[in-house]
Amino acid sequence: MEKQQLTQILTAQEAGLALRSGQVVAIPTETVYGLGADATNEDAVQKIFELKQRPGNNPLIVHIDAVSKAQLYVQWDERAQRLADEYWPGPLTLVLPIREHSPISKYVTAGLSTLAIRVPSHEVALEILRAADIPIAAPSANISGKLSPTEPQHVIQNFGALVPLVDGGATTVGLESTIVDLTTAIPTLLRPGGILKESIEQLMELADLPAAQAHSNSPKSPGLFGQHYAPQLPIRLDATEVASDEALLAFGPTKLGKAAKICNLSPDGNFEEAATNLYSMLHILDQPQYRSIAVTHIPKAGLGRAIMDRLHRAALPS
Ligand code: TXA
Ligand code: MG
Repeated sequence: MEKQQLTQILTAQEAGLALRSGQVVAIPTETVYGLGADATNEDAVQKIFELKQRPGNNPLIVHIDAVSKAQLYVQWDERAQRLADEYWPGPLTLVLPIREHSPISKYVTAGLSTLAIRVPSHEVALEILRAADIPIAAPSANISGKLSPTEPQHVIQNFGALVPLVDGGATTVGLESTIVDLTTAIPTLLRPGGILKESIEQLMELADLPAAQAHSNSPKSPGLFGQHYAPQLPIRLDATEVASDEALLAFGPTKLGKAAKICNLSPDGNFEEAATNLYSMLHILDQPQYRSIAVTHIPKAGLGRAIMDRLHRAALPS
């Protein structure tokens, strides 16, 4: 409560000015809240890493307000154009070779020769980006490894008065963007997310969009493997029974009624609804009075793949 009163709430226009002057600002997107800073300003970008306690080898996504601006920062190609025409603005991030003499800070790319970039679709995010008129680096607005923020309150729990915030309400997609690596002959899926793998395969006329190899030291994407997205409580997947001192995260109709607290991602088994609810329900269930969070079976079809990707990683030992 105290933290909330201290957090400065900015309008999109004010946020644009603050970002231009090198401040870090928490901004809404359709996926999760981001911790934004001027991607061309070394000091501003370094502040993001400090605030998040993020390892310096984990690169950031750059957010822009128009497809046409991507070419200022990355080596654009026909495949990127096709994906951007279809999905931008929206929850898809493209990894491309960075342009020579790019103004983007080396801290954003963590020294890689590639850059991750996207145009978000949240109206307030676009308003902020237009007001700032600079590329904005923004990781999810949470302490590294912890639950991602889908509501202003989650951001405040993480950063309190340290970071001013633009309130764009609860996010709609609820899961981070899909990340596709276009630096290889065959595109690879670095992170499943709001845009379905199957839709990308269809658009790109690919039989399969292979997933990047799960390797914790992968130079391709250092932050995409290992434990992440984790609540404080242990997570137990594919639960078929539940103890009375456990919290239960259910999907679809469930008869497991004994839990200390129950949240249902989607009683009708709707994946989109489940994705929207995932982080906010994990925030609700992650209370010290429960022993663990049991999660019922969620099929890895459609958006279920991205949901299970996050839950699997949340359940890994830290
Ligand atoms: O939906 C989203 O993508 C949200 C909103 C705020 O846009 N952002 C987000 O950022 O999820 P973050 O930092 O939490 O996750 C970005 C992931 C990291 O795992 C990072 O390793 C990977 O993207 N990444 C960034 N730049 C990359 C690059 N050049 N090559 C490969 N992976 C990269
Ligand atoms: Mg994150």
